[in-house]
Amino acid sequence: MNDLAAPTRPAPYQSYWMPFTTNAAFKKNPRLFASAKGMYYKTMDGREVLDGTAGLWCVNAGHGRDRITEAVAEQLRTLDYASSFQLGHPIAFECADRLAELAPGDLDYVFFGNSGSEAVDSALKIALAYHRARGEGGRVRLVGRERAYHGVGFGGVSVGGISKHRVAYGNLLPYVDHLPATHDLATQAYSRGEPEQGIHFADELLRIINIHDASTIAAVIVEPVAGSTGVLPPPRGYLKRLREICDKHGILLIFDEVITGFGRLGTSFAAEKWGVLPDIITCAKGLTNAAVPMGATIVRSHVYEAVVGAGTGGPELPHGYTYSGHPVACAAALATLDIYRDEGLFERAAKMAPYWEAGAHSLKGMPHVVDIRNCGLLAAVEFQAAPGKAGYHAQALHQACLEKGVLVRAVGDSLVASPPLIIERAEIDRLWGTVAECLRAR
Ligand SMILES: Cc1ncc(COP(=O)(O)O)c(C=O)c1O
Repeated sequence: MNDLAAPTRPAPYQSYWMPFTTNAAFKKNPRLFASAKGMYYKTMDGREVLDGTAGLWCVNAGHGRDRITEAVAEQLRTLDYASSFQLGHPIAFECADRLAELAPGDLDYVFFGNSGSEAVDSALKIALAYHRARGEGGRVRLVGRERAYHGVGFGGVSVGGISKHRVAYGNLLPYVDHLPATHDLATQAYSRGEPEQGIHFADELLRIINIHDASTIAAVIVEPVAGSTGVLPPPRGYLKRLREICDKHGILLIFDEVITGFGRLGTSFAAEKWGVLPDIITCAKGLTNAAVPMGATIVRSHVYEAVVGAGTGGPELPHGYTYSGHPVACAAALATLDIYRDEGLFERAAKMAPYWEAGAHSLKGMPHVVDIRNCGLLAAVEFQAAPGKAGYHAQALHQACLEKGVLVRAVGDSLVASPPLIIERAEIDRLWGTVAECLRAR
């Protein structure tokens, strides 16, 4: 028998190695969505499920938007693909212009990739290249934060602060340090929006500077609101304080806005909400309403000018992806940005946020609940940890809500929700009402 011929083939539906999934358990009991429109998924057996997660924090304009579908189809008919290496096509330039217009301050230059992970790795490389271009090549150290998620590239995992993700691979980037997480249950529980307490967590950067010397530090990267570790809004004044310390010590500040961008907090970006201008923003997800994969790294003029200005003839930044600025992703992004603008979805999210907040906090005092956090159209309900059973209550509630037709996510001991920005009040009532009903039943 030929060695290349597989003696047995996996059964149907076994070959897909699913990401961030307990494959064996899932494949015994698959949970599949067949279609989606607006606020709702439809399961294979035709049941409707209210999407309280905007997919994975990404379908901000709601599912199945015809305008995006048509733009993508038209782009495929016109120009399906052209390289962006030493060649180009107009729609990538148009898309970058639109993003630069949307981003605050002089965040005016855009490097495209295909995901949040790539946006983060691109940002870290750009930060290192920036210092090198300015003759400060000794600035090689990157500072992340505990309880941060920056995707799955080696750069993102290195600056990320989820120990499970880090220890699985052992060998990460050298010269990385971490700020402490900003969440403190003892002083911040049940904060509405930003916790009043916790600005001192920013001063930990001074300790890192003191140990390593500022001249070795290239950049600090934070999520303005940590999402994937349970919706942790920044303490009041924290982001501004980080900005001040970075400015004083010549360190670049990167905001990872993969979740907080595109209206999630009621503004274009968290940078706008808090009036703190980072040197680099990373984004993805809501950029294309998740219809086509795309990520972007948006940099301020001084960053772009330093790197591009130091060029000596060849590509100034030896970095890029086959699909950087993919025309179809750009078409999806432009159509998505048009929807956000024409339907006023960022403003809508800002208006709906107090109602959302009230709904989430109505769960205070219910069994097992130890904290509730919210910001914009993000919220998390944290449960008492069950000894030896990580995520026990959150997982059970996720499943119970799903059976009642409401999708919310379990992350650690928290249940998190981040609905499409088109959510109506009645749907907010249903979402939190279902969580409450399932909690009462436990
Ligand atoms: C803050 C943040 N950064 C990066 C990423 C990675 O994005 P992607 O999964 O598109 O690579 C995520 C994904 O959830 C994220 O939340």
